[in-house]
Amino acid sequence: MVGDISGEAGMGALFLSLSSLVKKTGADFVVVNGENASGGFGLTVDDYMKIRSYGADVVTSGNHIWQKSEILPQLEGDSVLLRPLNYPRGVPGHGVCTVTKNGVRYAVINAQGRTDLVIADDPFTACRGEAEKLRKQGYIVLVDFHAENAQEKEALGFYLDGIASLVAGTHTHVQTMDEKILPGGTGYITDLGMTGVQHQVIGSRSDVAIRRQLTQVPYKSEVAEGRGEIRGVLASIDAASGKTLSISRI
Ligand SMILES: [Fe+2]
Repeated sequence: MVGDISGEAGMGALFLSLSSLVKKTGADFVVVNGENASGGFGLTVDDYMKIRSYGADVVTSGNHIWQKSEILPQLEGDSVLLRPLNYPRGVPGHGVCTVTKNGVRYAVINAQGRTDLVIADDPFTACRGEAEKLRKQGYIVLVDFHAENAQEKEALGFYLDGIASLVAGTHTHVQTMDEKILPGGTGYITDLGMTGVQHQVIGSRSDVAIRRQLTQVPYKSEVAEGRGEIRGVLASIDAASGKTLSISRI
């Protein structure tokens, strides 16, 4: 699972690193969060197609997916492009998909936290219901929990322990070093981190971020430019039991 692609630098890093990383690690299945790929906010159809062509089997998102409205029809019609599932009824798109690849059945769930974010429906009940159903059907269940708050993310990890194979947080753009296997066999990390420029403030130019802090004026954030780095986790999962055997940070 690869963390939030931020702007052109993130797209560049994905282009340069993902296929060789897949080759080197032997990864069978790749999930990439793309909600900040296009100019730092949102996802264009063109960038979505590129992310898929670079090797993503499923593209997840979060609160910024609504920023580029051209993606809405794609969200409706494309089974492997996800938006968080816990939005009210009638919102375009879907938050769960299933993919069978090389005979292995994968399910991906994308959810959004409620703390310090747009208030969505309850992600806990929604994720658990879907994960239980899919696990019973024999799917390896991977969860991208797009959320701000570590407490909320850790709680969801334990709530899905033994049901989901992997629960990975996204959204903060800061990679956490708490990757682990929970007692029931679920792989977990609070945040995958950002795929983008190393020297940045959650993906934006540091000078603008400092000016915002000094003045408390919400100057428009500008996406940081430079050489990008890829971040995420690699997990080894037992296909039969759905349990994670190892997890490491990228
Ligand atoms: Fe986000």
